[in-house]
Amino acid sequence: MIILQRFPHPSIGVYVAILINNDGSGSQEWADHLQPHLPEHTLYCFEQLDDTDAIVDDIEYALVWNHPAGELQRYSNLKAILILGAGTEHIDHDATVPRVPIVRLVDPEMSRDMAQYALYWVMNSQRHYDTYRQQQLQQHWQRYPAAAAGDINVLIVGMGEIGTTIAEIFQLNGFRVSGWNRSTKQIAHIDCRFGVDALRPALREADVVVLCLPKNEHTIGFMNRQRLAEMKSSATLINIGRGAVIDEQALREALDNETISRAVLDVFSEEPLPSDEWYWQHPKVTVTPHMSGATYPRSAAKVIAANIRRIERGETPFPLHSHPAHLEN
Ligand code: GLV
Repeated sequence: MIILQRFPHPSIGVYVAILINNDGSGSQEWADHLQPHLPEHTLYCFEQLDDTDAIVDDIEYALVWNHPAGELQRYSNLKAILILGAGTEHIDHDATVPRVPIVRLVDPEMSRDMAQYALYWVMNSQRHYDTYRQQQLQQHWQRYPAAAAGDINVLIVGMGEIGTTIAEIFQLNGFRVSGWNRSTKQIAHIDCRFGVDALRPALREADVVVLCLPKNEHTIGFMNRQRLAEMKSSATLINIGRGAVIDEQALREALDNETISRAVLDVFSEEPLPSDEWYWQHPKVTVTPHMSGATYPRSAAKVIAANIRRIERGETPFPLHSHPAHLEN
């Protein structure tokens, strides 16, 4: 049994306990990065506790990724749940999650990595880098004209915090950028369209479509046969959201029939991608192992600590996620 040390929080006078459960195994790294930002808080790593019963009434904040369903309802004094990653599936699938604010993680470092991933693949084709690499192997010197960035229309589908950062970074690099979002929101400096009816014309104009959608009841199979058919035959589809957002069979047909030209996929319905999946061998598909935007405790800890401080000052943390019970209604 771990010895519990209850250190009083110097400004509040009582001790404030935080539980970290990063998929039942990786909590210590988070604790190491969080403690300097929250020196007066007591941090417990879920997997190091022999007996969580001893602390169930103490925990005020639960920092979780892929927690066991039903586990969070044991903490009777929970003030907030903070997610240790961008996705929310494990929370959405647990209808017993206590009715406290649920805070998503939006780490600017992760958003920037995802933007750079998409930018890399767009520039890779625009500037013919793969071709030049092949030419080098044959000691062949030949240049090809590159399309101007301003003539390449990049559509970001899903203009949440990450999608908006991606749009801004493409824009800074001179691309013609537009965004699409299901619901209307205020997005400065980006030509953004809203609602299902606005998607079709946006897809028709795009040379590159970057899918940046979460997985939920609105988005499963979102990129279906009809929507793929709206895209230009020369267009590239990049998926950095969730694999389930694309209808896999429809994508395969669209690539085989030259409905679209290329797919760059970082996310899949089943991960790791099974060895017998068609994606591995398809000449028009680039597969990467869900690495476009990793969560780094070194940078994300700052974001999470800032949200805990906001709650302690009586302010609203952000971004807030809807409670799973609401999603079911
Ligand atoms: C990665 O995909 C995450 O959800 O953090």
